[in-house]
Amino acid sequence: MKVLITGGAGFIGSNFIHYWLENHPEDDVVNFDKLTYAGNLENLKDIATNPHYSFVQGDICDTEAVEKVMNGVDLVVHFAAESHVDRSIHDPSVFVKTNVEGTNVLLNSALKNNVKHFHHISTDEVFGALSLETEEKFNEKTPYNPRSPYSASKAGSDHLVRAYHTTYGLPITITNCSNNYGPYQFPEKLIPLAITNVIEGKKIPIYGDGLYVRDWLHVEDHCRAIDLVIGKGKVGETYVVGGMTELVPNIEIAKKILSLLGKDETFLEYVKDRPGHDRKYDVDWTKIKTELGWKPLHNFDEWMEKTVEWYKNNEDWWKHIKSGEYQTYYEKQYGQG
Ligand code: NAD
Ligand code: TYD
Repeated sequence: MKVLITGGAGFIGSNFIHYWLENHPEDDVVNFDKLTYAGNLENLKDIATNPHYSFVQGDICDTEAVEKVMNGVDLVVHFAAESHVDRSIHDPSVFVKTNVEGTNVLLNSALKNNVKHFHHISTDEVFGALSLETEEKFNEKTPYNPRSPYSASKAGSDHLVRAYHTTYGLPITITNCSNNYGPYQFPEKLIPLAITNVIEGKKIPIYGDGLYVRDWLHVEDHCRAIDLVIGKGKVGETYVVGGMTELVPNIEIAKKILSLLGKDETFLEYVKDRPGHDRKYDVDWTKIKTELGWKPLHNFDEWMEKTVEWYKNNEDWWKHIKSGEYQTYYEKQYGQG
């Protein structure tokens, strides 16, 4: 089978390529990625010479390039996106372009080329925000209510994916997952930013009161969930994926990281809040558990220990990133480098 992976040089996409080559060694994987600031071929250097893997640099908004790479493809797994909420607040346009228009270009090409299965990776952020008090969780039937330019653009892409199924019969599935963490995550997101800052002797910036809650999902658990949905999920359906069984606010995440790195709370720094900051995400993953038998492999504490170890053992990987364009972004976002 020929598998086209978009955005495979990013965090989840590169973890997924590793996962897929290991678990489906007979397949041919093509990684199509523009290599934006978030794309990094270093994530894939161990498999760069694998005869079942190839890389094509290109933009999902470029119809011609997409047509070329779609030829003979059986399965598309679509990760490519602008993915960071704070960047979407600085500049929404590129989010609309890549996440909405780019997804449409891919869908159109998949349809023309009779692709057998198009799997779209989305986020729980399309459902909006929950209050801290409520026991309600997001599930497959929760109405869409996106509140940031990022989540609005992802919601737009989800609607297009469903529309191509309903209107043209394109065989699709969608996963809406919660916040991922693990190896190769760009250090603009909370967990890798916090770990790498502390290793460098810098503080962890905590937005607002720090009492914001995310449903943390380890990327390896996420990759298994996607594989199950592709293999056994029902065409046309959506599956939500989350990782937590208890709620942990950001401030407690930061404290866990400090304790794993043997540092005290003087490394915490409360900073200006994010505009329109979603208070809580909490996912009810009963459907994927009961229908497909998925559950996380480890609990949050075990996965966090492994994650902190990975960043401790791979300083070259993230130091290289933090020395580039990242400095300009950090200044803009946090005021001081
Ligand atoms: P990422 O930002 O680490 O990587 C995105 C990748 O897409 C990069 O390699 C980048 O070069 C590529 N890309 C961006 N624009 C492109 C374009 N126009 N054409 C081709 N390639 C392009 O993102 P991630 O964290 O790995 O997220 C992957 C997907 O999962 C995204 O669709 C995101 O919305 C979704 N998601 C992420 C999370 C999370 O916690 N990271 C949670 C839920 C959903
Ligand atoms: P983030 O990793 O950006 O993911 P998302 O916004 O998609 O959920 O942020 C996770 C949570 O951490 C969110 O509540 C914002 C907060 N946060 C901070 O407190 N400080 C930071 O420096 C960052 C990047 C995020």
